[in-house]
Amino acid sequence: MSAATDSRRAAFDARYGAGAIPPDGPWNEVIAALLDHRSVRAYRPDPLPDGTLETLVAAAQSAATSSNMQTWSVVSVTDPARKARLARIANDQRHIEQCPLFLVWLADLSRLARLAEGEGTALAALPFLETFLVAAIDASLAAQNATVAAESLGLSTVYIGALRNDVRAVAAELGLPPGCMAVFGLCVGTADQAMPRVKPRLPQTAVLHREQYDDADSAARAAYDEALHAWGRDNERAPYTWTQRVLARYGTTGALHGRDRLREALAELGFPLR
Ligand SMILES: Cc1cc2nc3c(=O)[nH]c(=O)nc-3n(C[C@H](O)[C@H](O)[C@H](O)COP(=O)(O)O)c2cc1C
Repeated sequence: MSAATDSRRAAFDARYGAGAIPPDGPWNEVIAALLDHRSVRAYRPDPLPDGTLETLVAAAQSAATSSNMQTWSVVSVTDPARKARLARIANDQRHIEQCPLFLVWLADLSRLARLAEGEGTALAALPFLETFLVAAIDASLAAQNATVAAESLGLSTVYIGALRNDVRAVAAELGLPPGCMAVFGLCVGTADQAMPRVKPRLPQTAVLHREQYDDADSAARAAYDEALHAWGRDNERAPYTWTQRVLARYGTTGALHGRDRLREALAELGFPLR
């Protein structure tokens, strides 16, 4: 068997469990890097090499963007005091303070609004949910490109959705104009921990539907509960099944940590979501 087949099999086994996916199929270094992704939550303080930020942003700007409108921006934060204040908003997640670079990814319609103002007009299509969704998608695709680029450089990352616990406070901290909202943060840095084992994902039968959607995923869930619990035994203080995780994460509105009131906050930040 070739080295590529061995590497492919090892990566699929890590992601889905031994023998879950047939080992034949295309393979290269880019796909190997994608399958090797894992979030890291402990960082060394070492600053990133010169030019890293600009390289990550170039990767981000190279992502596809709806109609080339480029309705996203990113704020790079390195000031320890500012990172500490952002960490407080995000349930005191320590890795935000530890990482040398914290990127806040923004759905940003303000640039287009300024363009229109400069042209002496207004953009009637900006206040709609659709346009906000476009901006949030643009920001997400850009951020994921930066994440893949960072990982290809041997750096580690973790997304921080908990910034949305208080999007008004984030906007005030970062001086965001109306029409600009922090979709999530991203810690970037050098891992200060043994790399966690790749976190297993749902079997492909749960997410891959051929021709039409089917919801026959209960067997997949049972297998995944077991796999995630086993992963947790090696990597977390309190292992959990996926079923337990879903029930805890979405079983109560309290678990949303204030994000259940996002619509009002967004309206205040200049997104009426018509
Ligand atoms: C949009 C988004 C927001 C996230 N927010 C957080 C967060 O606030 N804190 C955190 O520790 N992990 C966060 N994560 C990381 C996920 O928990 C992680 O990706 C998931 O558990 C899968 O693990 P893996 O990335 O190691 O494969 C977030 C991930 C995404 C995509």
